[in-house]
Amino acid sequence: MKKIPKLRWVKKPRSVSIVGTGSYVPRRVLTNAELERMVDTSDEWIVTRTGIRERRIAAEGEATSHLAAEAARRAMEQAQVSAEEIDLIIVATVTPDTAFPATACWVQKHIGAIKAACFDISAACSGFLYGIEIAQQFIANHTYETVLVIGADKLSSIVNWQDRNTCVLFGDGAGAAILRYRAGSHGILSTHMGSDGRFANLLITPAGGSAIPLTRDNIDQKLHCLHMQGRETFKQAVVSMTTAAQIALEKAGLDTEDLACIIPHQANLRIIEALAERLGLPMDKVVVNLDRYGNTSAAAVAIALDEAHRYGRFKTGDYILLVVFGGGLTWASSVIQW
Ligand code: UT7
Repeated sequence: MKKIPKLRWVKKPRSVSIVGTGSYVPRRVLTNAELERMVDTSDEWIVTRTGIRERRIAAEGEATSHLAAEAARRAMEQAQVSAEEIDLIIVATVTPDTAFPATACWVQKHIGAIKAACFDISAACSGFLYGIEIAQQFIANHTYETVLVIGADKLSSIVNWQDRNTCVLFGDGAGAAILRYRAGSHGILSTHMGSDGRFANLLITPAGGSAIPLTRDNIDQKLHCLHMQGRETFKQAVVSMTTAAQIALEKAGLDTEDLACIIPHQANLRIIEALAERLGLPMDKVVVNLDRYGNTSAAAVAIALDEAHRYGRFKTGDYILLVVFGGGLTWASSVIQW
């Protein structure tokens, strides 16, 4: 008799939700007025060209993992998830505590999530949404139950404080989200990620990796600091975020009118306004907090999501759109039904 092959039972993909958010910024506030005393700039220039009024700077001894762990604790508290329940920690950062081990491992140590696997991802300002998509895949395909995604950066550690083109733009902070399976149709409805390495030089920390290992000489030339071609980055940001937002909406089968709010990367108010205009969205539907924190890289959208959530900018059942852009170049977007 012919042998019947054993049928493998394939589990159906599950819907995935963000069940808790948290954020943390250091206490120290650095104002535009203080920057006026450090470089040739003015409060008027910074506010009109960027929308930024102040940013937070980490204390001495406060590393990216400390900011990340505090944001994580707040997300865990909101989600009512204990450290032991976390299966995976993903930290998105370009300012890791150490080249290795991963910052996610330091976070694991701080919060005591002993069961978790840990890794970092490097996608600059887009990292948090890259992390959300990776986490979603792991949960949807039944590999993990509970994933902690953190966007955290201490850009003050790589900023050239003598370069007015960049030092006025950035700040330190962290945002976190706990993802889990949740029954029903709510949750992450669509995600999209993209990159274009042809523009890798637009936003870069040239030295400190294997291409240009650190030497006294290149430290003197500030090659270990962040370098940016601002105007070209600006143009790319508007185009990439607009397209990414449209793709995520199309995948979710929604229009901009369906959205309760949009949470974009917080780099420059003029970029956000151009994005809103292209999408046909009024600014009162756009979450903006860069006036208080500047550009916190991978943390920016995560902090904005947490604040929008806590301040009631959207409620259960609402559709929200997250869209980001950063060095790489990289971009990402996601539509969520809360
Ligand atoms: O998070 C990753 C993504 N990053 C971004 O999306 C950032 C994108 N870029 C930007 O946000 C903007 O390009 C900047 C805010 C960085 C610069 O604004 P801009 O309107 O593009 O100015 P610009 O670079 O074209 O510079 C205009 C002038 C220059 O002077 P000259 O050459 O015209 O005499 C700059 O030297 O503004 C000068 N400038 C400043 N002046 C006073 C540049 N930085 C400053 C400053 N204070 N801090």
